[in-house]
Amino acid sequence: MAESVKSRATSLRTQLVTRALRQCLPGRDGDVFISTFPKSGTTWMQQVVCMLSGEPRDVDIQMRAPYIEAAIATCVFSMQRLRELPAPRLFKTHAAFEDLPVAGCTKAAPPPNVKVVIVVRDPRDVMVSLYYHSKSIKGISYQGTWDEWFDDFVNGVAPLPMAAASGADGGDGEGKSDSSKSDWFSHTLGWWRVARDHPEQVLWVRYEDMLADPLASVRRVAQLVNPSVVGDDSLLREIVHASSFGEMKQRHDACEENNEMRNAGGTSHFRKGQSGDWRRHLSAAQRERFGRVMVERLKGSGLEDAFEQD
Ligand code: A3P
Repeated sequence: MAESVKSRATSLRTQLVTRALRQCLPGRDGDVFISTFPKSGTTWMQQVVCMLSGEPRDVDIQMRAPYIEAAIATCVFSMQRLRELPAPRLFKTHAAFEDLPVAGCTKAAPPPNVKVVIVVRDPRDVMVSLYYHSKSIKGISYQGTWDEWFDDFVNGVAPLPMAAASGADGGDGEGKSDSSKSDWFSHTLGWWRVARDHPEQVLWVRYEDMLADPLASVRRVAQLVNPSVVGDDSLLREIVHASSFGEMKQRHDACEENNEMRNAGGTSHFRKGQSGDWRRHLSAAQRERFGRVMVERLKGSGLEDAFEQD
């Protein structure tokens, strides 16, 4: 009961913040949103985009590319400060496309001067990563078993950090279930359509491709966010190095503030940084069930072959 009140309160707070941002924060030339479903490689992309925008390797990425909904909800940034940030403004968001927290979105696209980099990861690896995260983070402290988590994730009701809110654009937040936005499939399919229809503005990046060929991935991101550095191979290589799992983990884990957010014995934000860890977690029945759900939910979308078959 207490948990559901807490999660409802979080959801309502997110809705209010999203609504305020969609009314009061106009998009500006150079704005870049890094948009993900949680645990898809957001922090990795924040590092890449910050460095492509001229920042040094040890930039405080959470201040340079703040998690915009949380920054307002926790008063770390005021609306005025967000408005006045120097260009290019970089933001992280976990919002569904229809809740993108910036004014001037149409039903089909972000404002014309705003660019978006979306990172998408195999949902089974997202589910595993989010499970450890939800257990570790004091603010969530998930107590359930893996089997319960699996069901919650498949049913779109797994607790998310600052769950993306329903109804920012006219919904009442009551009629629509919160689960619609903690559902990986609705979140991903919503963004997929925007990326497909507006490739000049919205870049679709797969976590697995970043792992397989980080240099090519960083170059693709550069083409969207800062074309002037696309030919600068030494910079791109430096970014690949500084944003490698080992380098980022070392910098992050050394920071006391990051550790304070975690329960004792909890996993680091930089846990494994691999693809396919789901194979070590899902039972045969869970693999079969999730495979079926993937086929059903992705049917006709163009994403049918985007993720490895079992
Ligand atoms: P795992 O828990 O599977 O290790 P986010 O930043 O969106 O919260 O995503 C966190 C996940 O991305 C974690 O996955 C983390 O280890 C992984 N990750 C973060 N930085 C990475 C990097 N530089 N290279 C590969 N994976 C990275």
